[in-house]
Amino acid sequence: MTPTQTATAAPELTVVVPSYNERDNVPELARRLDHVLSGIAWEMIVVDDDSPDGTSAVVKALSRTDPRVRCIRRVGRRGLAGACIEGMLASSAPVVAVMDADLQHDETILPAMLAHIRDGRELVVASRNIEGGSKTEGLSPIRQAISDLGRKLSAMILRAPLSDPMSGFFMLKRELVEEIAPKLSTAGFKILADIAASVPRAPSVAEVPFVFRERVHGESKLDAKVALDYLGFVLNKLSGGLIPLRFIFFALVGASGLLVHMLVLYAALRSGVGFEWSQTLATVIAMTSNFAINNEVTYRDGRLRGSKFWVGLALFYVVCSIGALGNVGVASWLYSGHAQWWVAGIAGAVMGAVFNYAASSAFVWRR
Ligand code: GDD
Ligand code: MN
Repeated sequence: MTPTQTATAAPELTVVVPSYNERDNVPELARRLDHVLSGIAWEMIVVDDDSPDGTSAVVKALSRTDPRVRCIRRVGRRGLAGACIEGMLASSAPVVAVMDADLQHDETILPAMLAHIRDGRELVVASRNIEGGSKTEGLSPIRQAISDLGRKLSAMILRAPLSDPMSGFFMLKRELVEEIAPKLSTAGFKILADIAASVPRAPSVAEVPFVFRERVHGESKLDAKVALDYLGFVLNKLSGGLIPLRFIFFALVGASGLLVHMLVLYAALRSGVGFEWSQTLATVIAMTSNFAINNEVTYRDGRLRGSKFWVGLALFYVVCSIGALGNVGVASWLYSGHAQWWVAGIAGAVMGAVFNYAASSAFVWRR
């Protein structure tokens, strides 16, 4: 690398690289960028959430010999979307890109992406879902269906038609991010979908196909929570941001609890337990599963551990019991006032859910 020569030119392109435990991947990524972006004034900003493997120290060691490489070490917070936003806002270049640190994103298409921006496009997305891209084939029918549904839902909230709204690999004009940054959510991972839903007008878009590579070092941090996360995001946007994301998760978890309840009830009845005991067992197990899932997903940022987990569970039982009383109370009151049975039923359930949510946020997972 020839740092002294390139460091003098103000960068045209900032490549923002979110990282968590990627110490073995980042130096290789820097080498590859140097190679593929020759002739372009670029810089790389690694936004590391204080990775336990010491990624930030590795990046800072690189910076000392190559000032095009910079590191933002964030302490006390975690999150892919937030990291990407901070990295983009740390840039002063006219163009910013976001790509993963783990070498799964094909860096060789960066020049083609930049060419589109130079041609006047505001947003360029590296897509797995167009001709020449990697995805779709090889997916099981059910995963294919989920992925199609995800795309259809996205189309309802995005200002731009994107074939791969979940891509973590894209490039855009910095002025666009600067404009919408206050509207973006730092939670979750769907930064591109959020950008495409938050722009004030339809941006001009180009897509470049790429093949999503296998990971060599380290492991993926995105798991099953991601699908739920995304559903919550879409519902939040569809409600015009009115319904808080956390409440949407809470309600989705509640719906999963109903399923658990029915399964346990069925199994208990089948094995000869009386109805009252079966119903009690189903209620306790459903509440417990709701608590555990809420603890992992809805209140992930304030997760209860060790003895606090058990105290929280006990409080959650109390909260849910009061919520259930409120539910039945409201529904019966409406029903006795001659409301339709289903109106009374829904009103009771909504009332119970809102109460459980408010009380859980205030007492169980208080921060
Ligand atoms: N700073 C920071 N904080 N970085 C993070 C965090 C975090 O909490 N979580 C993950 N990252 C970084 C990883 O180090 C990696 O560079 C990148 O974000 C993507 O994380 P992976 O854990 O490798 O995700 P993946 O390969 O499963 O997900 C891919 O597909 C998603 C959707 O299909 C990625 O391409 C995502 O960007 C994409 O949204
Ligand atoms: Mn990855």
